Amino acid sequence: MSDAGIIEEILRLKKERRAIIIAHNYQREEVQEIADFTGDSLELSRTASTIDCSVIVFCGVNFMAESASILSPEKTVLLPELGACCPMADLIRVSGPRKPWESYPGYKEQPKLIFPIDYSLNDIKKAYPGVPVVAYVNTTAEIKANVDICCTSANVVKVIESIPGDEVICVPDKNLSMWAQKNTKKKVIAWDGFCHVHDRIRREDALRAREEHPNALLMAHPECRLEVLEVADHVTSTSGMLRYAKSSPHNEFIVGTETGLMYRLKKENPGKIFHPLRKDMVCPNMKKTTLQSVLRALKENVNVVKVPEDIRVPAKRALDRMLAL
Ligand code: 13P
Ligand code: SF4
Repeated sequence: MSDAGIIEEILRLKKERRAIIIAHNYQREEVQEIADFTGDSLELSRTASTIDCSVIVFCGVNFMAESASILSPEKTVLLPELGACCPMADLIRVSGPRKPWESYPGYKEQPKLIFPIDYSLNDIKKAYPGVPVVAYVNTTAEIKANVDICCTSANVVKVIESIPGDEVICVPDKNLSMWAQKNTKKKVIAWDGFCHVHDRIRREDALRAREEHPNALLMAHPECRLEVLEVADHVTSTSGMLRYAKSSPHNEFIVGTETGLMYRLKKENPGKIFHPLRKDMVCPNMKKTTLQSVLRALKENVNVVKVPEDIRVPAKRALDRMLAL
């Protein structure tokens, strides 16, 4: 079937099944193009909870579809590619041993430890009894069910500031945690996880990009290393970058996040110029979803993501606390 034929069939099935398609800002261009909503993790969680429909086709990675299922248990949530995961989200466990290094892209050598990555969430809690735990939304439903509150890259500092006490545990992204630490007076206890797409960028890459494009402003995602964030003009979530680029009087930008965001940046700002910070900032899991997989999920009702009630209810509490802010 041609792409036009696939799109026609998707639109027909969408109507028939009262379905809505939502896509993360990193998705393939053609997938973003057929989506009813595109956005960052926070926007997509909100959309999933407020939208009136029977089926949500979530074009993103598994923790995002789980969040949609947690917030909208009465809706059928479909993840077009079941193998679309976030290695950082999948690495941290509530208890028991972590997955082997080989299953985690980016871990070529033993990382520098902040809070030992061999520790499960329960081990960390035991080491810091009574200290509240914030989980980045890039975590499994099971982790969310065992923490006090969730956060996204857009609201991590606000979430940390909203919690009583002087200390907070923040999992799983050490870079996001260190960025938060720089912006709050509270003590942030970080775990040693990271996103292999953002963590590969070094300060030299940022300085080189600045040299190559001296008139451009550098926007960076807080999943990048602190050494990169320190030389950026603006640190924000993917949708934060869209807002910043649109409202800024500047017309040239270096984009320090996954290259999928370039599509919306260029589309929504036709007169402006965007350069990727590094061309290999590509998340293979975000690229797994295709028009064909969207069609298949809708047609055959496969790849249903349903979080069991005993996990969903406590996980929803953590997400609701964040959304209430
Ligand atoms: P945003 O919340 O900024 O969209 O980021 C999600 C993500 O997975 C970043 O790698
Ligand atoms: Fe996970 Fe990184 Fe991909 Fe985002 S870009 S989904 S954090 S691996």
